Amino acid sequence: MYSRIAGTGRCLPERVVTNADLEHVVDTTDEWIRSRTGIERRHIAADGQTTADLAEGAARAAMAAAGVTAADIDFIVVGTTTPDYVFPNVGCIVQDRLGAHGCPAFSVEAACSGFIYALSIADRFIASGGARCALVIGAETLSRMTDWSDRTTCVLFGDGAGAVVLKPAEEPGILSCHLGADGAYRDLLYHPYGVSRQQRPGETAGPYIHMKGNEVFKVAVKTLETIVDETLAANHLERSAIDWLIPHQANIRIIQATARRLDMPLEKVVLTLQDHGNTSAASVPMALDVAVRDGRVQRGQLLLLEAFGGGFTWGSSLIRF
Ligand code: UT7
Repeated sequence: MYSRIAGTGRCLPERVVTNADLEHVVDTTDEWIRSRTGIERRHIAADGQTTADLAEGAARAAMAAAGVTAADIDFIVVGTTTPDYVFPNVGCIVQDRLGAHGCPAFSVEAACSGFIYALSIADRFIASGGARCALVIGAETLSRMTDWSDRTTCVLFGDGAGAVVLKPAEEPGILSCHLGADGAYRDLLYHPYGVSRQQRPGETAGPYIHMKGNEVFKVAVKTLETIVDETLAANHLERSAIDWLIPHQANIRIIQATARRLDMPLEKVVLTLQDHGNTSAASVPMALDVAVRDGRVQRGQLLLLEAFGGGFTWGSSLIRF
């Protein structure tokens, strides 16, 4: 038994903040942001709009595309690092709103790799017969933990949610998922405020995303090269077999490096960072949904999804769509 993607969806806040808008907020320029990151604009949640709101919107769109109702859903997993509450988890909130009561619902906290981690878990449940219709969501409101006075981070992030419905199939489907992590790098990209840990005397780090961008960049490029090689080798595939690369949307230069490794022209890479910025766990499912809905991604094609983020965590998934 395999799992296959039966439908995709996304939900973005209405408000768009352009690079030009940010020129009035911090000492930056549209030119710097575009040339260093590829980002042109990002969506930012309205006051009171939460990660669960966006997750619900993406879930409803994916369910409509898959032709399933709440009664069909028997498994919900959400990748997020910006939950509405510590608990209940975002999956439970979405489950209640959809009226899919009773099925397991939980969140996975793996930063930008959260959706790939969630997809991998749901895939294994379906493949083993433990679920028959899974909702897999990546959803974030990173704007809530962004320091809007720090030009090195605030120009990068955005809010949004993407989702897929996974169903059983006799043919793959999801061919393989590959996950990894290395907590030794945790100081390069982190948010210092949790529930259990208290600030130590003298610590000044505020409740925001802290990132040593340049160092993260280097490890991201190397790790993503390794994981795409590993994914192809595990499936005995040549690089030319991949129809679409659907990468985490952190930086155009990181994406270009991965595409070069795959010997792929950028025309075969789904890019949304110009419109969405870096939306962490939401970026890969939103990019998938964009390319499905605009007709680029077709049934039967081979897709390589990958992500890298805080932890560090990373992951990839090879999918016959
Ligand atoms: O999604 C999870 C994983 N995250 C990532 O993968 C992000 C990885 N890192 C990156 O994407 C890039 O490192 C950044 C986009 C964050 C930064 O680009 P960079 O080319 O590594 O720039 P930098 O940090 O080396 O900074 C270069 C210069 C510095 O000025 P000096 O010291 O050379 O005078 C910065 O102060 O650019 C300056 N700078 C800015 N200038 C204008 C930093 N941010 C800005 C800004 N506007 N927004």
